[in-house]
Amino acid sequence: MIKVLFVCLGNICRSPLAEAIFNQKVKAFGLSQNFKCDSCGTSDYHIGELPDERTIACAKRHQIPIHHRARQLNRVDAREFDYILAMDHSNKKNIEIDLQKYRLSHDHIYLIREFQPNSDNLDVPDPYYGGEEGFENVYKILDESIDHFLEYLKVEHQEYV
Ligand code: 4NP
Repeated sequence: MIKVLFVCLGNICRSPLAEAIFNQKVKAFGLSQNFKCDSCGTSDYHIGELPDERTIACAKRHQIPIHHRARQLNRVDAREFDYILAMDHSNKKNIEIDLQKYRLSHDHIYLIREFQPNSDNLDVPDPYYGGEEGFENVYKILDESIDHFLEYLKVEHQEYV
């Protein structure tokens, strides 16, 4: 099984949407049993909350089931997950600081947009303080990035994908 963790700051906007998109794509390929996917935030701001209502509306527009309660990154995650995918540089930095605190290392921490071909910017923009269009933009970026991440997994793990 391949275990994938998407990480943002609050775990109510970008990373729960990434998790939902990933799960839907994997399900469409009939590969759900080969993957575990989760998401979390580096902050404790929204622990226990449902995704932002604009995230839920965006998922609904694209017919993507979304079921998540916000949680914070913890030391077990570094052991549990094969891939840790940050939404932006600041999330990645925060993950690295947390891992240092736990005296743990992880060899597969990436920015999700590293997998998006020709992306001029490697950050998924934080849509929290903007409007609906920001969430739609996040959806488009994640949809394309995750397609290419799955292509990458296909090459790296032929037995699972
Ligand atoms: P996310 O968005 O990291 O994509 O979940 C945010 C959610 C909440 C806050 C910032 C970003 N906040 O400052 O509360």
